[in-house]
Amino acid sequence: MEDSDAVPVHVAIIMDGNGRWAKQRGLPRTAGHKEGVKTVKRITKCAANAGVRYLTLYAFSTENWKRSREEVDFLFHLFVEAINGYIGELKENGVRLNFIGDFGPLPYFLKKAMEISKRETKNGKKMMLNIALNYGGRREIIQAVKEICKEKNSSKDINEEMLKQFLYTKDMPDPDMIVRTSGEKRLSNFLLYQSSYSELFFTDTLWPDFSEEEFLAILKEFSSRKRRFGKA
Ligand code: IPE
Ligand code: IPE
Ligand code: MG
Repeated sequence: MEDSDAVPVHVAIIMDGNGRWAKQRGLPRTAGHKEGVKTVKRITKCAANAGVRYLTLYAFSTENWKRSREEVDFLFHLFVEAINGYIGELKENGVRLNFIGDFGPLPYFLKKAMEISKRETKNGKKMMLNIALNYGGRREIIQAVKEICKEKNSSKDINEEMLKQFLYTKDMPDPDMIVRTSGEKRLSNFLLYQSSYSELFFTDTLWPDFSEEEFLAILKEFSSRKRRFGKA
């Protein structure tokens, strides 16, 4: 099978448009986030069944602290509720939960739920669901550089593969594709180092409305794209 025919091994998604979805309905932004959790469950199941091995979802960026205190607090509590109510289904579907980001500033109750859910789902073999929480691509790179400075004596040791081992995504392949919903066409600090050869997909659909059908259509389009990685 040609490389281009394959199902992507690693799919990353910038889940955007929850606030606008709610606004369109005259609801508070928080209602959009709640609805967005349902989409997470649908798309996770669909991706695992389609043969995707790693699904990385951008849930909270290092810049999202700029939102109102109420919205940030709501999100953290929603994450805990979503994680706790989701462990059983993840186990049933063979999905292993993992988190990437700078967890230090997150509240203790959320860190605890993250830890427990990781442990509970650690035997999932079908797919890894990777949630980016307080994630920032620049912060990830800076953190890696700091660690490297502490551990290595010589710049001779530094190369691409070695640097990768200091990122949150160590041991994972780079994302083959990145999808962003809601019509925005930017990465917003997502997977900056890892996305160098990712295929990019943008849809106007708001995250709460994003369906399995549309996701499968994007996977199909991926299979028709020709990836060259610099070759002629
Ligand atoms: C994405 O939806 C969810 C998070 C960033 C947590 P938004 O909340 O950014 O929704 P819009 O972009 O305001 O519509
Ligand atoms: C990106 O969405 C972050 C997440 C989806 C978690 P934002 O809504 O925060 O991005 P900007 O501010 O529109 O670039
Ligand atoms: Mg947004």
